[in-house]
Amino acid sequence: MDKKEFFKELDEFIDGLRDKKDDVKILNFVVEKLDSIPKDVQKHIADKTGLMEISIENTINFYPKFRTKVSDIKEVAVCTGMNCGPAGGQDIYNALVEILEVDKNGLSKDGKIILNKKRCFGRCPKGPNVSIYGEIYSFMTLQDVKRRLGLK
Ligand code: FES
Repeated sequence: MDKKEFFKELDEFIDGLRDKKDDVKILNFVVEKLDSIPKDVQKHIADKTGLMEISIENTINFYPKFRTKVSDIKEVAVCTGMNCGPAGGQDIYNALVEILEVDKNGLSKDGKIILNKKRCFGRCPKGPNVSIYGEIYSFMTLQDVKRRLGLK
């Protein structure tokens, strides 16, 4: 989409909001349209809404769904729900915490992967389910996940 056209649509979207400073709604709109949150768009939102850029950044950093859209950080989400958890999902998650050496926010030591838990992907009979970079894979083992992530 043409950037100028996008900014026009973004302004219209913000104008139509009851709370014009609802940055979560605004960022959702941006991700839906661009699948990323470029720096100039963050600045535009700040100018348009009067929100401070740092407060927009804080919101982005708070939500993995936004955080993964501003950089090269990719999300791996392991279902540890009622079916997947006991079927191996919990073990996969625990192993990845160790292997990737994630911090308390789930960010891997190399800063490239954000590891999350999911309660259910709605594919319970096919568990363990793991989402890797936005794609959900079923019947996963730790070996499968490691292979897809290029880990030994
Ligand atoms: S419990 Fe994992 S997909 Fe439902």
